[in-house]
Amino acid sequence: MSPRKEMHMFDYLNLDISKDHFPQYGMSARAAEALIESEAWTDCNPALNLSSFVTTFCEPEAHNILNANYLKNYIEHDIYPQLFAMETAMVRWLHNLWNGPKKAEPYGTATVGSSEACMLAGLAHKWNWRQAREKAGQDASKPNLVTGGNVQVVWKKFMRYFDVEPRIAPLKPGNYRLTTEHLDKLVNENTICVVAIAGQTFTGEDDDFQDIHDWLDAYEKRTGINIPMHIDGASGGFINPFLYPDYKWDFRLPRVQSINASGHKYGLAPPGLGWVIFRERKVFNEDLVFYVNYLGGEMPTATLNFSRNAMQIPVQYYMMLRNGFEGYKRIMSRTLQNARELREMLLKSGYFVMLNETQRIPVVALGLNKKHAKNFNEFDVSAKVRERGWVLSAYAMPANAQEVNCLRVVVRPHLNHTVVKMLGHDIVTACEFLSKNGGHNKPPSLHCEKKGSPAKC
Ligand SMILES: Cc1ncc(COP(=O)(O)O)c(C=O)c1O
Repeated sequence: MSPRKEMHMFDYLNLDISKDHFPQYGMSARAAEALIESEAWTDCNPALNLSSFVTTFCEPEAHNILNANYLKNYIEHDIYPQLFAMETAMVRWLHNLWNGPKKAEPYGTATVGSSEACMLAGLAHKWNWRQAREKAGQDASKPNLVTGGNVQVVWKKFMRYFDVEPRIAPLKPGNYRLTTEHLDKLVNENTICVVAIAGQTFTGEDDDFQDIHDWLDAYEKRTGINIPMHIDGASGGFINPFLYPDYKWDFRLPRVQSINASGHKYGLAPPGLGWVIFRERKVFNEDLVFYVNYLGGEMPTATLNFSRNAMQIPVQYYMMLRNGFEGYKRIMSRTLQNARELREMLLKSGYFVMLNETQRIPVVALGLNKKHAKNFNEFDVSAKVRERGWVLSAYAMPANAQEVNCLRVVVRPHLNHTVVKMLGHDIVTACEFLSKNGGHNKPPSLHCEKKGSPAKC
């Protein structure tokens, strides 16, 4: 019999839980729950986590949907056909929202996040490139991918995990976007695609889509080499269509063959959902699709994971039905307005300078104004506001702009106007304190910088 069987609800307080050994005996459900809750007490309140892009607010009705679906396995399409039908409908809706060609057969999938979506898109382009090269009797052993130094780490993972040479355009202080500046040195016949970002991680800006597109057109005219574009719309994918309908960032640019977005960011679904959508069915190379028969029916599978939770899918469906185009537009425009106000408030304080010029998503990316902030840095400000509970990212920009530090606030829809003003006030108060007392934080050194090759990390 378990020695803990008679444990009183409060006896768990004295338990010393080993971090090394698997627990020998169990405990009551209440005790286990209370213990886990207490272990997480000091974690941040997700609503105050403005470092993350990911949803931290959910309506009670969405909670009900989560609860009703959390035990369903995504991959079992034959067993949960209605979930699959919702996913299929949303793939078509997104293809339409992102201006996919009307006559094309929409193709895409829900993924765990943008990370899986990017990997699938990268694989499709690698496969297409290789097949075309082999068909033409050309060497297909050295694929490369061209993107900017502002790229999110998932693309670096994709390139390393799937043996694709990274060709990364360096940034420079004052320019944190992929433009056409370095393309002639990076692009060649081995380039599987150019990845451009809508709403980048570091400053929230967009890359120069139209110019890159036109440059690739001219390159094709010159060389005969046709290079597709992928748009990483992790954040911008759920902002641009609603706020900037005339802005061509999507399938309206003929070279754009695939787009990813995070349903769990401005798509407003809970953590664990991304999307990849292809311009047309044939872009997702058939060689990447597997057909399995062990879950009933013959089922195609083309995601990196087999099993995963499905609960985010009906909640994404709920958000799309509940908000519609007009609702998303209203929410995003209010959120952007809040971000602009916060930015104005911080600039007006004199402590900050703006880092992002062409901001379309509600991200405030600022650096300290060295004239007024002589004895502290962005890391000090981030640490100081943490005393009030706010979590703001501070980081050094990627190569070759490492000397520039950024303080970033991801303004999300759950922040109301009053809270945004409170946040602005708290940031300015932190700067006032630091300018009197000085700061002590140093930028954390990156693992790869220790090895002396920041450009490779
Ligand atoms: C531009 C960009 N791409 C990809 C990702 C990875 O997305 P996820 O966290 O949804 O996997 C992020 C995450 O912040 C991002 O900002």
